[in-house]
Amino acid sequence: MADVAKKVDNERLGWILPEALRAIHEVIERHGVTEEEWMAVLGFLTEVGKQDEFVLLSDVTKTSVLVDAISHEDETGVTPSDVEGPLYREDPPWREKPVKIYEEYQGVENGDVLFVHGRVASADRTPISGAVLDIWQTGPDGGYDIWDERQPDYNFRGRFGVDKDGSYEFQTMVPKPYTVPTGGPVGRILQATGQHPWRPAHIHFKVEAEGHEPLITQVFFPEDPYLDNDTIGAVKPGLVRALTRHEDEEELARRGLDAPFYTCEFDITLKPVMAAARA
Ligand code: BEZ
Ligand code: FE
Repeated sequence: MADVAKKVDNERLGWILPEALRAIHEVIERHGVTEEEWMAVLGFLTEVGKQDEFVLLSDVTKTSVLVDAISHEDETGVTPSDVEGPLYREDPPWREKPVKIYEEYQGVENGDVLFVHGRVASADRTPISGAVLDIWQTGPDGGYDIWDERQPDYNFRGRFGVDKDGSYEFQTMVPKPYTVPTGGPVGRILQATGQHPWRPAHIHFKVEAEGHEPLITQVFFPEDPYLDNDTIGAVKPGLVRALTRHEDEEELARRGLDAPFYTCEFDITLKPVMAAARA
């Protein structure tokens, strides 16, 4: 609680905490929750803390999505934000042009090459030449680098800058739907309550540029079986982008590829920091 008090305005804490407790007490009373059940709840939360799963718990209860929506509700004309999730890793490798965010490994042949491209601009459409993108995603099978022993460390992760005109392109592989971690206490709750653990395929983006609010978001793809049924509820229609398949021999040769590949366009618009806030 001491850390919460440091980051949250004490006056708001004084209003919100008693109200949250009243809501919990009301539910306990209405359902006649027993001592044994309450101890099980406390044991569960202790285990969530020990296994560092509070972000995951916040995500699968769709609380993260709610807080994200409230935090960005006044934003129009900019790229919608989305939740970060628990699988971001600090200090990913800096990737030089032509940007490729993965290394070859046994298993990469199970996927399709994807080039994601777009332009980073400010709300008034001025390109932002100094923007830095930070990407993380799963491989075509086996999930994130931290779960998949075949993958080099920091595979399918990387930071890079955009060109002078704000444009960028990076080579990756088409991600697939995957399940959030199910081996811990949160997985047990999902199973007990009959909530499936699947997320639609997606790519995570963090975008930073001077004079602009940082953006954390995700891109999704049409026709994914979990698009309407994401276990963390994070899909926004404004973040779904088409995948275009390319199989023309000349295009393949130009890209140095011997199998059909995909492209996806994702333009990013950032919100300028308000002048008063900058001063
Ligand atoms: C993810 O997309 O990386 C993620 C989000 C929420 C929970 C688990 C994983
Ligand atoms: Fe993810």
